[in-house]
Amino acid sequence: SKERVMPKALPDPVTLPISRENLVDPPDDLRRWREEGPIRPMLFADGHVGWLATGYTAVRAVLADPRFSTRSETLHPPIGQRLSQQALTRLPGFFLREDPPEHTRFRRLLTGQFTVRRMKELEPRIEKITSDRLAAMERIGPPADLVEAFALPIPSLVICELLGVPYDDHTMFQRESAAMLNLDSTLAEMQAALEGLVDYLHKLVVSKRTDPDDGLISGLVSTGQLTDEEITGAAVLLLIAGHETTANMLAFGTYVLLNNPSQLAALRDDPSLAEAAVEELLRYLSIVHIGPVRTATEDAEVEGQLIRAGESVTLSLSAANRDPERFEDPDTLDITRHAMGHVSFGHGIHQCLGQQLARIEMRIAYPALFQCFPDLRLAIPADKVSMRSNMAIYGVHRLPVTW
Ligand code: HEM
Repeated sequence: SKERVMPKALPDPVTLPISRENLVDPPDDLRRWREEGPIRPMLFADGHVGWLATGYTAVRAVLADPRFSTRSETLHPPIGQRLSQQALTRLPGFFLREDPPEHTRFRRLLTGQFTVRRMKELEPRIEKITSDRLAAMERIGPPADLVEAFALPIPSLVICELLGVPYDDHTMFQRESAAMLNLDSTLAEMQAALEGLVDYLHKLVVSKRTDPDDGLISGLVSTGQLTDEEITGAAVLLLIAGHETTANMLAFGTYVLLNNPSQLAALRDDPSLAEAAVEELLRYLSIVHIGPVRTATEDAEVEGQLIRAGESVTLSLSAANRDPERFEDPDTLDITRHAMGHVSFGHGIHQCLGQQLARIEMRIAYPALFQCFPDLRLAIPADKVSMRSNMAIYGVHRLPVTW
């Protein structure tokens, strides 16, 4: 009969799971689906039927493929409301949502600002900021919420210093960034949060024209190649990307290390392990747990699967980072393993611009924390910690600790 010669039917579209059953490992479904194949149909939040890639090779292939676009108007939201697509389309300078050659223009100018010299100059500042926060924790606690006392202020202070943004305004931009990344925010709430950040940073960009400093925003102004609106958009991207991500690595990483005492002891006894530990935590935690998303601009084959023009693909970084074909014994945290090649910073032309800075922050902050508080421990049962399943960046909402 006709049916017998039909090609093997594709599995039914799935929706993207975000809750982690044991709070730490990626959702079980992702592992099961990856075992069935590297890419499968997925139902997006707006009803679009596209794809979900869970295999390491498939994820990297799409991220490296110029036939896939990152422009807002092509993307379907994998889950919830997601970022207000139109708002971001209208935001010049938000180069994460630009394809070449636009993206290339911004990336080149920004790379010129993320110089080795500037990162080196920041290092002693990061050390100072870290020891100040630890001293404040000692003065006030125990107990303390590690997110509020340590994990959030460090990257927030660092990104302010990098950009030339006054930290005094942190309550406002931390609140608006959180609203942008909250999957439960309504479109109107996201719109308002974005407008708040744009208004604030636009005023700052204008003020740097008459009152320059040695921060990155002034650096971009002085290139003479970007409009105020473009610099504002880039600053919005950097401000959001620069503190929520590293903050969640620090707090969630601490949570996981406290639950793995032998790994924690190894790191505390030998701070030279910090570099390897940071890479392994990046892989193991995979805090960017929803996207990225790309859309095919022409028909493209990925791992034997035809993706048609207009179809979106969700790239599961957390599934790729646990692919046993790439990492041996992937579900075990091993801070001595060589975790290079993980995709926690993405891959291809949009690979994280701030990754060196994030690494420097983490290599300084984790060992300093565990040396300052050798008997740091959770102040509540591990399974009572509230997880950020409702946020675009995974982690812990609060981390009550004592010592
Ligand atoms: C892009 C993760 C820290 C700035 C990305 C992407 C990922 C990522 C996965 C790629 C997104 C995509 O392809 O769609 C992380 C993680 C961090 C971190 C896990 C912390 C551990 C930072 C910091 C900054 C930053 C500290 C700024 C100082 C950016 C920017 C982009 C980006 C500007 C867009 C790059 C482009 O489109 O060319 N990040 N990031 N990130 N990140 Fe990060």
